[in-house]
Amino acid sequence: MTASLEVSGLAFAYPDGHQALFGVDFSVARGERVALLGPNGAGKTTLVLHLNGILTGGAGTVKVAGLPVDRRNMAEVRRRVGIVFQDPDDQLFMPTVREDVAFGPAAAGLKGPELEDRVQRALERVGMAEFRDRPPHHLSFGQRRRVAVATVLAMEPDILVLDEPSSNLDPASRRELADILRSLDVTVLMVTHDLPYALELCPRSLILSDGVIAADGPTGELLSDEELMRAHRLELPFGFDPRSVPAAPARP
Ligand SMILES: Nc1ncnc2c1ncn2[C@@H]1O[C@H](COP(=O)(O)OP(=O)(O)O)[C@@H](O)[C@H]1O
Ligand SMILES: [Mg+2]
Repeated sequence: MTASLEVSGLAFAYPDGHQALFGVDFSVARGERVALLGPNGAGKTTLVLHLNGILTGGAGTVKVAGLPVDRRNMAEVRRRVGIVFQDPDDQLFMPTVREDVAFGPAAAGLKGPELEDRVQRALERVGMAEFRDRPPHHLSFGQRRRVAVATVLAMEPDILVLDEPSSNLDPASRRELADILRSLDVTVLMVTHDLPYALELCPRSLILSDGVIAADGPTGELLSDEELMRAHRLELPFGFDPRSVPAAPARP
């Protein structure tokens, strides 16, 4: 079966010469939920920005459902891979929530009742339907994050990529977002520093460190490996025992 996402030999240097990725290899099967862990500066965001061709031009390949991410396939890749950026304010720029969520589907050609229906469903999924006519900048950070998720869900992607989705959320918002993510029937790759969140949501984790994949395995096993964790500057919250939490159930 074709992998949902396949990254091989991906290396990338920024125009200023700083090399962030040094040959990244992994693949993700359809419907898997995978956490991407790693210290600050490891290259996680740089990797994420390659998954739908926002960054290109380095060595190696990224394939989405077997399609190479290149200029020829860019429209199809961007339809299939939805990225929720680290900062929701990078994603929301319209006068109302409705217009932000409608933006992508409208650009893809949807209009009229079909478009309204798509927007409504995406907002309902994240519990933000009653905020549709509000300006995004009047919402709380957690609400803006949920609207950012809705803008991506409205495109009905096959792969949802989230860059630190639980950062800056209060505990209730963090919990609600976990419930939303669990309810989705898509492939998920989630960058996070929130290790309990990774354990709860993702049966499998990758550790990216200094621009290479340093570990790839069941989340509970990686988090229980103290030496591995220390080597990559990953710290569990005080008193948190990964062995005490049942592993996230894998989906068929
Ligand atoms: N636009 C840029 N220009 C030059 N270097 C960058 C740029 N963005 C990120 N970097 C560098 O690339 C490395 C990886 O960054 P990033 O992918 O943001 O890491 P992470 O998301 O894991 O914290 C870091 O050393 C960072 O300073
Ligand atoms: Mg980052």
